[in-house]
Amino acid sequence: MSLYSEYILEREGYNTYEDDVSFFTYIKVDDALYVRDIYVSPEARGEKKSLELGELAECIAREFNCKAMIGSIDTETNGWKRNKKILEKFGYKETYTDGDMIYFNKDLV
Ligand SMILES: CC(C)(COP(=O)(O)OP(=O)(O)OC[C@H]1O[C@@H](n2cnc3c(N)ncnc32)[C@H](O)[C@@H]1OP(=O)(O)O)[C@@H](O)C(=O)NCCC(=O)NCCS
Repeated sequence: MSLYSEYILEREGYNTYEDDVSFFTYIKVDDALYVRDIYVSPEARGEKKSLELGELAECIAREFNCKAMIGSIDTETNGWKRNKKILEKFGYKETYTDGDMIYFNKDLV
């Protein structure tokens, strides 16, 4: 586990999945799994890695008996419009906004 992963687990309670070219952070919130950060290194982009990560996050959610996924977009960050499209493409629906944040939900069937 990277030092930063250890840090956010200790400080904020977020777990991290990480491999050589990507990572995502997640936390269980009631009966949903909230995936906060996703990163694919530039050399590995455009090869559907983010889709693979999304599917892996859903597997983790099912192991935790979650009924839904939560995603979010911070409209103050670079590329947020692209990221919003990616979430929607993966079946996430916008649920509410809170300041700069937009939250999304996807029911697990
Ligand atoms: C967002 C990110 C995770 C996408 O990863 P990726 O593995 O390259 O994405 P994929 O190959 O799975 O592509 C998913 C879809 O998004 C589109 N997409 C991916 N990167 C894109 C880009 N830079 N510009 C436009 N569209 C893009 C792809 O075309 C694809 O859609 P398609 O199936 O219709 O072609 C990656 O670009 C990244 O890490 N960005 C920096 C960090 C970030 O913004 N994280 C998300 C918010 S926390």
